[in-house]
Amino acid sequence: MTIWCPSLTGRTGPVFRRIADAIGDSVADGGLPRGARLPPQRDLAHALGVSLNTVTRAYADATARGFVCGEVGRGTYVRDKAPPSTREPAADLARPVTGPIDFSRNLPTPGQAAGALAASLADLAGSNLLASFLDDQTAGGPEHHAAAAAQWLARVGLEARADDIALTNGAQHGILVALLATMRPGDVLLTEALTYAPIKAMAHHLGLRIVPVASEDGVLSPDALEATCGRVAATALYCLPTLHTPTTATMDVDRRTAIAATARRHDLVVIEDDVFGTLPPDRPPPLACLAPERTLYVTSVSKSLAPGLRVGYVHGPPDRMRAVRSAVTLSSWMPPPLMADIASRWILDGTADRLNAVQREEAAARQSMARALIPGESRVADPQGFHVWVPLPPHWHPDVFRMEARARGVKVVVGGAFAIDPSASPHAVRLCLSHESTRARVREGLTVVADLLREGGPRGTLVL
Ligand SMILES: Cc1ncc(COP(=O)(O)O)c(C=O)c1O
Repeated sequence: MTIWCPSLTGRTGPVFRRIADAIGDSVADGGLPRGARLPPQRDLAHALGVSLNTVTRAYADATARGFVCGEVGRGTYVRDKAPPSTREPAADLARPVTGPIDFSRNLPTPGQAAGALAASLADLAGSNLLASFLDDQTAGGPEHHAAAAAQWLARVGLEARADDIALTNGAQHGILVALLATMRPGDVLLTEALTYAPIKAMAHHLGLRIVPVASEDGVLSPDALEATCGRVAATALYCLPTLHTPTTATMDVDRRTAIAATARRHDLVVIEDDVFGTLPPDRPPPLACLAPERTLYVTSVSKSLAPGLRVGYVHGPPDRMRAVRSAVTLSSWMPPPLMADIASRWILDGTADRLNAVQREEAAARQSMARALIPGESRVADPQGFHVWVPLPPHWHPDVFRMEARARGVKVVVGGAFAIDPSASPHAVRLCLSHESTRARVREGLTVVADLLREGGPRGTLVL
């Protein structure tokens, strides 16, 4: 039997993209009619003389671009309806392009996922899953979500069993769930001295005592952790080993190994926040790989795909997952099944990798603008991260710098917002470059910050 097999001659780009382009052209000219089933991937790979992986990527690309649709195990079909426009919606539909330039929010670049959402919603409109999305799916929902999550965690080097993953409403919820599952009022939670600010409020509401641990070069110091564990009986450690907020540092594998050993020695539960984990293409293994018996690994799709999906994952050792699932049920019953389904589809069909690649590319471009505009002594950053940590010259008090920047139309966050001990506020501000819609606005905002750094102190009208 002959199968549909496109000619790739005359096309340019990677082979998978050429195949996906050929699928798009055949759909457009009727060579592949609406509803037609594409050949099994293995057969097409054989016919074209390419690897199975190449065809898998090509089908994923064609799916993400809206030419075809498919469900794992059921084949890939030309869409019944005209494919939605593959043009990405303009970013300015999602975030303001007038008013203050907002460097205060650590969110991914907007607008990129809306094209994929349009394609997924069109697929779902004809799906027989709709009723189940409206039904209760307590206790994690269908197994394929956890299986998709396991594939996503493999991207950061964590080989996970689906049974050891719980779905959450994002990483913020995941952290809360991890705390609920492991700690009781009065327990001691260790954190880096500078850390993700909402932890302070969570600990306060749960009646936990937070004890900060000193960092070295922006990441948790194993020696300081050892010393602190010698002084206080702590239950858990919350930390951010990859693209730390606010310092931007990533802990190397030696330090991760030392932290894992210390946690083991003092029987600490480790709550590893890896929300930026898929941004660096080449990164050290998560702590969850080095201390798997005690690590609750928390991540989400908020930074890599879209924060509005509100889908996150907690992975942990089997003996802790019951408490984790109970905490999910207690705090939210379940993440909305529709959103979980969209995230799973995107992971399985390659859309998630494509969107993550867009974030990586945009982060790199914006970081290179920061390198060009902000002098080296006032800039600590990872070329793959969303944010920049700006140590201030002595003549600038961080609060005054923030107010002056605001008066000139740029929002930044002062270092003190991340300090557990208010008397140890760092003399720095954080700039998040990814939230703004356009590179032009990022450049404008960075120019304002660079001007301020050059100036000897406040000049403008302060806006409180
Ligand atoms: C370090 C860190 N952890 C966790 C979160 C929460 O992420 P999510 O949007 O998935 O709840 C954020 C969001 O800004 C973050 O910056």
